[in-house]
Amino acid sequence: MTKKFDLAALLADRRGEGYDLHGRHLNPQLPRMLRTIGFDKVYERAEGAYFWDADGQDYLDMLAGFGVMGLGRHHPVVRKALHDVLDAELADLTRFDCPPLPGLLAEKLLTYSPHLDRVFFSNSGTEAVETALKFARYATGRPRVLYCAHAFHGLTAGSLSVNGESCFRDGFDPLLPDTAIGLGDLAALERELKRGDVAALIVEPIQGKGVHACPPGFLRAAQDLLHRHKALLIADEVQTGLGRTGTFYGYQHEDGVEPDLVCVAKALSGGYVPVGATLGTDAIFKKVYSSMDRVLVHSASFGANAQAMAAGLAVLAVLDDEELVANARRTGELLTSRLTALVDRYEMLHEVRGRGLMIGLEFGRPSSLGLRSRWTMLQAARKGLFAQMVVVPLLQRHRILTQVSGDRLEVIKLIPPLIIGEREVDRFVDAFTAVMDEAHSGGGLIWDFGRTLVKQAVANR
Ligand SMILES: Cc1ncc(COP(=O)(O)O)c(C=O)c1O
Repeated sequence: MTKKFDLAALLADRRGEGYDLHGRHLNPQLPRMLRTIGFDKVYERAEGAYFWDADGQDYLDMLAGFGVMGLGRHHPVVRKALHDVLDAELADLTRFDCPPLPGLLAEKLLTYSPHLDRVFFSNSGTEAVETALKFARYATGRPRVLYCAHAFHGLTAGSLSVNGESCFRDGFDPLLPDTAIGLGDLAALERELKRGDVAALIVEPIQGKGVHACPPGFLRAAQDLLHRHKALLIADEVQTGLGRTGTFYGYQHEDGVEPDLVCVAKALSGGYVPVGATLGTDAIFKKVYSSMDRVLVHSASFGANAQAMAAGLAVLAVLDDEELVANARRTGELLTSRLTALVDRYEMLHEVRGRGLMIGLEFGRPSSLGLRSRWTMLQAARKGLFAQMVVVPLLQRHRILTQVSGDRLEVIKLIPPLIIGEREVDRFVDAFTAVMDEAHSGGGLIWDFGRTLVKQAVANR
C-alpha cells in the first residue's frame, strides 16, 4: 500500500529546516551567502507584490523572482486556469497528437509581434535562447553568433557561449566560437559581418546586467546591416518582454525593428510553471523543420505542456484586461522621476536609468572628501560593496527586496511586479531616501556594515 502523501503535513513537520536542507543537499553557498548578509528570512506566504514572514511582517518585492512574477504572486486568474487545467484531466504530452492549448497560446502570443509566424515552446529562458541560436545557425548555414559585451542570455552551454561576463564563462571552455561586440558598436558589427560566417546577432534591448539600453537607433541599424549580410537579428526578451519596459517587447521602443527571432520566458507563465518560447519567421521554421524526417530535430519532452500553456494564456489575458503594460509605463515613469529627483541630493547616486519597470540606480564616487575616503576603502576591497550596503538595509530595516545588478557593479536593479502602483512607489522612495541619508551622513549602522563587508571581501581573496 502506498503511504499517504500529505504535503501540508510534511511542510508543517519540517518547518524551519529549509536553510539546513539547502546547506546539506543543494548549493551550499546559497544559505551561506544569505546568512552572511542577513537575508536568511523565512517567508511564509505571498500575494501580489508582497510576501510575509512568520511574524506577519510584510515585505515589498522589487525583484519579482528575477522577473518571473510579472503579475505578482498568486494572481487569481492564473491560479484558476491552473486548477481548471488539472481538473480537466487532459491527455497531455502524448507527444503524438496536436492538442489545442499550445496552438492557442502561439496564436495569441504572435499577435504582439505580427511580423512573426511560428513558436517553439520550451521550459526556460536559456532554452528559448538555445533554440534561437540553433535555428539561426541552421537557417543561415553559418556557425558564428555575435553578442554584446556584458550580455546575459542564460547559463547552459550554448547560451553561455554568448554570455559577456568572464565570471560566468571561466572554466567552462570550450564554448561555441561566438564573438562579442560592444553594445551599440555598429562598426564592429559590420567588421564581423564582412567575414561572411555570421548567423546572427543576439541582443537584449535593455541589458539585465547594469540596466544598459541599446543606444537609440542601434537595433534598427543593426537589423539593416544584418539583413544586408543575410544574417539574423535575435531579440532576447526573456527579461524585457511581456510589458516589463512599458511596451510589450523592449525592441518596440524603436520604430521599424522586426527581429527574426524573439526569445520569451520568465513572466509568460505567471511564475508558476517553467516555460520558454522562441518566436520566429515562417522561413526560419520551414528551414529547420524542412521534411517529415526532421519533425523531432528540435524538441523538448516537457515543451508545450498543458499547465504552462494554460498559465500562459491566462497571463496574456490578465496583461490585456488589467492594462499592465500601460501600468508598467506609467508607474515606471513615476518611480523613475521620483528617484531621478534624488540624484542632485545624493552625491553617491549618479544615475537613474531604464524603461518602464526595469530601473537601474547607479552609485559612484562622491565629491566631498570625507565620503570619498570611505568610498575608496570600499572600492579597494571589492567593487559593488556600496550597492550591497544599500540593498541590505532596504531589506533588513525597510523590508524591501532588491538586488545588486551583477557581479562587482555599483548598480541596483528594480524589476518589481507590473501590478505595483503609487503605494509601492512611495514606500520604495521613502525607504531609499532613509538609506541614502544615512549613507551620506558617513556614519551609522550602514557604515559599520560597510566595514564588515570590506573585512569579508579581504578575507575571501
Ligand atoms: C535576458 C535573459 N536571457 C536569458 C535568461 C535565462 O533565463 P533562465 O534563467 O530561465 O534560463 C535570463 C535570465 O535571467 C535573462 O535575463
